Amino acid sequence: MSGFEQVFGAAPGAQADAPGRVNLLGEHTDYNDGFVLPIAIAQRTRVAMRRAAGPGFALHAQGQGDTVSFELDSPPAQHFASYVYGCLMLARRHGAQLPPLQIHVESDVPMGVGLSSSAALEVATLRCLRQLLGLTFDDVQIAQMGQRAEIEFAGVNCGIMDQMASSLADTTRALLLDTRSLERRFVDLPAGSAVLVLDSGMPRSLAASGYNQRRAECEEAARLLGVRSLREVTDVAALRGLPDLLRRRARHVVSENARVLQAVNCSSAGEFGQLMNASHASLRDDYEVSIPELDRLVALLQAQEGVHGARLTGAGFGGACVALCDADALQRAGLAAVTKYREAGGRGRVLVPPLPD
Ligand code: GLA
Repeated sequence: MSGFEQVFGAAPGAQADAPGRVNLLGEHTDYNDGFVLPIAIAQRTRVAMRRAAGPGFALHAQGQGDTVSFELDSPPAQHFASYVYGCLMLARRHGAQLPPLQIHVESDVPMGVGLSSSAALEVATLRCLRQLLGLTFDDVQIAQMGQRAEIEFAGVNCGIMDQMASSLADTTRALLLDTRSLERRFVDLPAGSAVLVLDSGMPRSLAASGYNQRRAECEEAARLLGVRSLREVTDVAALRGLPDLLRRRARHVVSENARVLQAVNCSSAGEFGQLMNASHASLRDDYEVSIPELDRLVALLQAQEGVHGARLTGAGFGGACVALCDADALQRAGLAAVTKYREAGGRGRVLVPPLPD
């Protein structure tokens, strides 16, 4: 029996799912209109729905306690429910007539580590709604609605990367996305390589405030430079006149955009890995979104045989690291780095590839 049937006692009218993502390169560039290079991960969020007799909405998320009841004119208090509620409100704003619904969510996307569990929830919710109600939103519109839901209803002033990745990426090739035009294309990973993701076990406690602050600093730097966004700057020499802090923030964004464009044309895993290492240094020194535990885990990864490069991934301030490895070194390198990290007291674990059940 499905989770939906166990909770609501009947089969759902529609079911949909969406993956989490890991970003290989292009961190903190999306809200600067820049370039990103995420790839979907195997873990997914599944949403099932059915029209209810009414009057309101009932939402059950596995592992999140009791079923939550709410009406569209009064948002639910539970944090996870605000993502679903936000998606419903966005669908209504785009013309959907919403009947009362029973909604069930289950997910194996790790939460709070920078693998976009919230985007996976938003995209899966909107896909399920599209199917149930015969709506005509396309995959890009779904990503855009998910982003708006997150900004307006979950209070994170995020860019478009995570929702575009969850809606459009796949697990075998990276998605090169220009976040200004939304032009995109798939890019093969360097031959023989694969993606490894490790959790540092450190909560992303400063993520929301630090994230919004970095975003404001970038906007201020763009204003002082007289450009619409930092995307328009391609030469770091142009940053010379900025105050030191803003110059370093902007230097990260300008150099990171260049690294993404270089990575998609590079010929070897070694070259790609060097760009990841440089990205981590830039995030640590110029953008200041790393923490000592992430630096340690990244250094352990970089020291493993078969690892071409490693960096923190996602917003930073805690969470996960990503590495590009030789495919046949994946398991060994991941376990070796986690073991060493734990010996020094950390609570690390392998997130990708996911352990078999
Ligand atoms: C979070 C945001 C994204 C992006 C990254 C940093 O994941 O949701 O939009 O800004 O941080 O690259």
